[in-house]
Parts: sequence; C-alpha cells; structure tokens
Amino acid sequence: MVRQIFIGPIIHTDENGELIIKESVAIFIEDDKIIDVMENPTTNKEKVIFNIDDFYADKVINLSYGQFIIPGFIDCHTHAVQFPNLGLGYDKCLLEWLETYTFPLEKKYTETKFADQVFDAVVKRTIEAGTTTACYFASLYAEASMILAEKVAELGQRAFIGKINMNIPRNDEYYESTEKSIKDTIAFVESVERIGNPLVRPIITPRFALNCNMELMQELAKIAKAKDLHIQTHISENEAEIRAVKQTFKEQSSYTAVYETAGLLTNKTILAHGIHLEDNELAILEKQGTAIIHCPSSNMYLRSGLCDVRRLKAKNIKLGLGTDVAGGSSYSMQDEMRSVLHVSTCLSLMKHDYVPLNYKEVFHMATLGGAKALSIDDKVGNLVSGKEFDALIIDLNAKNSRLDNFREYTLEENFQRFIHSGDDRNIVSVYVRGRKVK
Ligand code: GUN
Ligand code: FE
Repeated sequence: MVRQIFIGPIIHTDENGELIIKESVAIFIEDDKIIDVMENPTTNKEKVIFNIDDFYADKVINLSYGQFIIPGFIDCHTHAVQFPNLGLGYDKCLLEWLETYTFPLEKKYTETKFADQVFDAVVKRTIEAGTTTACYFASLYAEASMILAEKVAELGQRAFIGKINMNIPRNDEYYESTEKSIKDTIAFVESVERIGNPLVRPIITPRFALNCNMELMQELAKIAKAKDLHIQTHISENEAEIRAVKQTFKEQSSYTAVYETAGLLTNKTILAHGIHLEDNELAILEKQGTAIIHCPSSNMYLRSGLCDVRRLKAKNIKLGLGTDVAGGSSYSMQDEMRSVLHVSTCLSLMKHDYVPLNYKEVFHMATLGGAKALSIDDKVGNLVSGKEFDALIIDLNAKNSRLDNFREYTLEENFQRFIHSGDDRNIVSVYVRGRKVK
C-alpha cells in the first residue's frame, strides 16, 4: 500500500457547480483513493501534525507558494486518429471536411507503425496538457484501436476507447460490412477487457447516423446493453448533416429519434455537438439521461454553429466538454474552456439579456461536469474523500510560465489567471489514480 499526503490549496467544484476554494488542506491518499481531506492542517517544518493518529505516509508533498491542486481535466470527445491534421483544413464545413481531409487520413491506420507513432504522441501530449480522462474515437480498424488502448494503459491515462463503426458503402472503401463491424467490435471490446486495467474502458462508437444503417446501430445498442458499456456518437452538428439524416431516415421524426429508435440513448451515452437540437429532442435526451458534449473550438472552425449551453443547462441536460481534434484546433482543455467563453460571449453580444458563462462554469464543465456526463462522477471530477485521485498541481511560478507575477495575487486571482491566460507549462504535475504521470 502506498500512502501520500498533499498539503496546500485546492480548488474544485461541488455537485451544484459552485466553485470551492480552500487555502490550506491536507489530502490523504491511500493507493488510488482519497481517504480524507482535512482543512487547515498544522504543519511544523518537515513534520506534519494532524489530528488523526499517526498517519504514516510514504510521501508528503508540500505545495510551494503559487501552487494549488485542481481535479484533472476530462476531455469527453476527441479523435486520436485525427491528430496529424491538427490545425489543418478549416476552409471546409463538416461534410466536405470529412471527405477532403479526415477520411483520407483515417484510412492510413492500416499501417500499425504509423498508428503507434501517432498514438504515442496523442497520449503523451494530452497527459502533458492535464487531460487525466479522455474519451477517444479511435480507428475504424480494430487493430489500430487496440494500439491506442495499450498505449493509454502503458502511459497511465484514464480513457474510453472506441473502435469506430461505419457500414454505409463508400467509393473509397472506407467502411466495413455490417457483419465485420459487429464481429470486430465484440472482439475489440473483449481485447480491451483482457488488458485488465480499470482505467481503460471500451466504448461503443457508431460514427454518426450518416455512416451507419439502422440494423448496425441496433446491433451495437444490443452489445452496449449486454455488456453495460458506454456509447458515443455525433449529433446535430451541421445543418446539411441534419437535412441528410432526415432524408435518409424519413420515417423518424428527428435526428434524436433515429438514435432513440436504435436504442443508442442511455444514461451512459454521450453525444458530441448537439448544436441545433429542438426542444422535443432535448426532452428525449433528458428523459434518457443522455449527455451532450460541447465542442466549441470545432463548432467555430467548421462553422457548425454557436451552441447555446445555457439552454441545454436549463433543459437539465448533462454537459461535458470536448476538444474534438482535429475539428478543434487544440488538444488542450484550457484552450477549449476559453473557446466556451468566447462562444458564450458571442451569444451574449447577439442577445442582450444573455448572461455569458464565466470561468467557474467552464472549469466545472471541464472537470466534474464531464465526469457527470460520463457517469463516472462516483470516481472522479472533484477532490472529495472516497474518489480516486486524478489531479493536477498548478504553479503560477512555473519555469517558462507565460504569466509574470508583478504583484501579489489572491488564490482566486491566480486560478482565474490560469484558466484565462495560463498554459500547460503551469501544469507541473499530473496524477491519475494516485500515480504521477507528469
Ligand atoms: N461527424 C462524423 N464524424 C465526425 C468527425 O470526425 N468529426 C466531427 N467534428 N464530426 C463528425
Ligand atoms: Fe467529433
């Protein structure tokens, strides 16, 4: 058993999304779990004096001036295979973008060496940027998808890994038969489970309604149900996409109804984008406990639209945040939080009674909100006793920090500066399940 104590300030959010700032706490960790969080511990040089009797610790980490602890970031939607296209191809909207830039890149992942190189960088870089949990769209190919799962297990990130399903025939052969799609998905799920790492979970991943027919989506829903798995897909991202879905599934009343009929909407389902959903669709999502993952950077670059997060919140929809690389231009959740703020500010400029989101709300979305969207908030999302220790040490005096300390700042000011103007150089340590991974 390994016991660690972290002593210093913590900042996280509670169930209601309220920001909690504590200037001085001691967090007691036993292996992977937080066993106690004590306020205002008394310290005496090297020796720490606690009220509880003789807590033996293998490691005591005393935070220095300018440092504080926050929960790790949860990126609820990103495409590992698309990292080589990061920052490219924003001259096209979704459907043309997929055809021109994205599918041609994704077809390359039959080369396992290429897959290994890319995924090594993806997992290392996202950990560096403070992403302790990532929800990945991996590859159409089960073999490449397994390379990502093994990489995540090796490097110690918490992740959901989805082998993508697409069975609608295409001229470029970038699809698979229904039979192969189902067979490979079952084999992939079993292979991920065989890794035996509780941090690495398979997730059922029909790409979106334009790449899968109803039969495949229904079969995938059955697999998810039988094995109690999470499900991820895209919904209502782009107006041309929505028209095409309605055209393809004429008997369904809406995009959401397509997924509902397929049985894909559960309280473990996450849907990326959800920009143009109508009230009756939101009512279905609320009833099913299905989450929407806001991807503002991607929504801007692909000119998909301005998602009104306040409206989704008011309709009681669970909300996570996703970088959606390479639709989004950055894998950093700090950048994504700023994109949320920018989009929300645009909405407030267009509608004068609209109150834009603030740094506290976007921080909640990037941490406990994401954990709730993924239904893993019993394990992660904030730093309370009983949860697993997924956390970041932030340092406003970090080497090479872009932020200068021209005066004394309060803890809350330093937190604001980190959210609005910091970068991954201010994330000096990253812990997943108590293990230091940066
Ligand atoms: N819809 C279907 N596939 C994709 C994808 O790869 N990226 C985005 N942003 N939307 C999609
Ligand atoms: Fe996406």
